[in-house]
Amino acid sequence: MGKFQKLIMVGFIVFQSIGVANNLPDIAKGKTIYQSNCSGCHGMSGDGNGPAANVLSPLPRDFTKGKYLFRTTPSGSLPTDENIHKTIRNGVTRTSMPAWKNILNDQDVSDVTSYIKTFAEKFTIQTPAPEVKLPAVVPEKTDELVQDGQMLYRLMECFSCHGPEGNADGPTSDELVNDWGNPIVPPDFAHDPFKGGSDPIDVYRTFSTGLTGTPMPGYDDDIFGFAREDIVGDYSNLEAVYSENEVKAFDSWARNTITGDELYSKSEEDMYAYFQMRKWALVYYVLDQREKESLIFKLFKKDYELTQ
Ligand code: HEC
Ligand code: HEC
Repeated sequence: MGKFQKLIMVGFIVFQSIGVANNLPDIAKGKTIYQSNCSGCHGMSGDGNGPAANVLSPLPRDFTKGKYLFRTTPSGSLPTDENIHKTIRNGVTRTSMPAWKNILNDQDVSDVTSYIKTFAEKFTIQTPAPEVKLPAVVPEKTDELVQDGQMLYRLMECFSCHGPEGNADGPTSDELVNDWGNPIVPPDFAHDPFKGGSDPIDVYRTFSTGLTGTPMPGYDDDIFGFAREDIVGDYSNLEAVYSENEVKAFDSWARNTITGDELYSKSEEDMYAYFQMRKWALVYYVLDQREKESLIFKLFKKDYELTQ
């Protein structure tokens, strides 16, 4: 290595270490930021019970359990720091959690994150599990995917919490509680923006990670590994919620599903791609509920405005 190269190397290392030092989160500063910006809702001790909490729905997060809804890690895992940063910067749609990106800079966000982590002992004894792997390619939406998704929605009993068409009117929709013992209402797919983001890849991620702390489960790719033999048969669960014709439609879909022999003769790679495609079908079905509904809604709104 020549002298000049060595000089550059030294310069680079010094530069890098200054960069890192600047970015080390400062818990004491984080505490000050927290007490002046966050404690009104989240409480001085991080238990979610600040002075404003009793008028808010959903309630502000209680940080003492270390349970975070918005993550790139598997269901039940701690979030990464970057997951928490993102929530603080962008806020949570449909709730009172504000977006702080125009008020706090990146260093503030990292400081306050390090402080809120001190509320939960879990962060001192566990580390976040590796991030869930997402497919690199997002497939195009097709009618076939949407139709498959509708049947998968029935098969996987999403309706029990979300209602037969995702309008939050399922058998258990108004009995659900979160891990803090508070009532929680599922979104109405037709109108409510999704907290975890509404791009196809966001919804895919939310299905994969679940919303830990709420009843919304995480779905591994493996769960999608069923064949015709596993699903044709007793539809009493569907009969309780869907019309006779809808159950019939499900039955004929089920009877056309891939057989176990066909499925397991695929290579492992192809099989997983197949499972993932089923998850995409569900994503596009759920997103389609909004597109369909918003069209009707827009027409209605236009009518409404014209008659005013
Ligand atoms: C006006 C009330 C309010 C203020 C002020 C507020 N929050 Fe929140 N915050 C909420 C609510 C409500 C939720 C719960 C959202 C939900 O359950 O979907 C929440 C959730 C969160 C979450 C949980 C994310 C997850 O993955 O579960 C974090 C982290 C958070 N807030 C950080 C902060 C920080 C840091 C500040 C201050 C800079 C702050 N909040 C200020 C109301 C507030
Ligand atoms: C045990 C009840 C339950 C089941 C089963 C369930 N969900 Fe949920 N789901 C919820 C609740 C509760 C929420 C709302 C969480 C919140 O807003 O904090 C939710 C949220 C969602 C969201 C919105 C996520 C966001 O980013 O805001 C989507 C989309 C969703 N569920 C789809 C599904 C699909 C598809 C299935 C079936 C594969 C399913 N859910 C199964 C209870 C359930």
